[in-house]
Amino acid sequence: MLDFNGQVVIVTGSGSPKGIGRVIARTFAKQGAVAIIADINEAGINETVDVIKAEGGKAEGFKLDVTSEDSVKDFVQKVVDKYGRIDVLVNNAGISQKVTVDDMTLKDMQRIFSVNMFGLFLITQACVRVMRKQKYGRVVSLSSVSGKRGGGVFGGAHYSASKAAVLGFSKNLAREVAQDGITVNCVAPGLINTEIWKSLPKEDADKVIAGIPAGHPGETSDVANAIVFLASKEAGYITGEDIDINGGSHMD
Ligand SMILES: NC(=O)c1ccc[n+]([C@@H]2O[C@H](COP(=O)([O-])OP(=O)(O)OC[C@H]3O[C@@H](n4cnc5c(N)ncnc54)[C@H](O)[C@@H]3O)[C@@H](O)[C@H]2O)c1
Repeated sequence: MLDFNGQVVIVTGSGSPKGIGRVIARTFAKQGAVAIIADINEAGINETVDVIKAEGGKAEGFKLDVTSEDSVKDFVQKVVDKYGRIDVLVNNAGISQKVTVDDMTLKDMQRIFSVNMFGLFLITQACVRVMRKQKYGRVVSLSSVSGKRGGGVFGGAHYSASKAAVLGFSKNLAREVAQDGITVNCVAPGLINTEIWKSLPKEDADKVIAGIPAGHPGETSDVANAIVFLASKEAGYITGEDIDINGGSHMD
């Protein structure tokens, strides 16, 4: 078991009832961390905190809009005032939209990037400033298989572009902060068994499954487990890396 006792772990987008973020936060809490539940969805935040506490874990919720500089600044200040440190940041908040490039507007592109890349930049910059002072930190960001080989079923080219941008941003940052005891890594999930997958018509689902050697979508716990490993003290010599979690549907 990886030990996160006493560690303060922020998971953005962890208010989503059936999403990956809640399971990431629960997994960290089970390893002893204080899970900081940060989302724009206030009802979802409270639910996640309740679920973690019911499981015997430690959690506190904060409203956060990663696209707002003021919200990010206020949030990070509150966490530091209360807990004195930030050990791990998991950049999980993300949005998608199914649209072709032909139908895409500049506003669509800007909206997707405002959360998936610009928001990720704002919260990462603020947390890394704290981590630098501590000379310790872990940043793990959710990219996607779509950022490596293009999307298809769910997202558009703007989503793929934003998730590819997350990979480049993370590798560059990894170089900048390696000497401060901070690692920066990504995970690139393929199709994960969340609400969006369940909403897919059977014939579309069958087509997707045919392209996955493992023969089934991933579970949210598959993503959470990889993230917890990358965020552990034990993974301290791994930085600028991205781990594919896709049942073999894409290998690079
Ligand atoms: N589900 C998949 O199959 C899959 C595959 C690859 C990558 N991903 C990535 O994993 C992450 C989680 O995906 P999910 O399917 O659980 O999504 P989800 O929609 O269930 O959860 C996303 C969460 O982000 C929050 N959020 C949105 N905008 C925000 C903002 N401005 N500030 C703060 N929080 C905000 C939402 O309120 C929501 O709770 C995303 O980054 C997604 O791109 C998902």
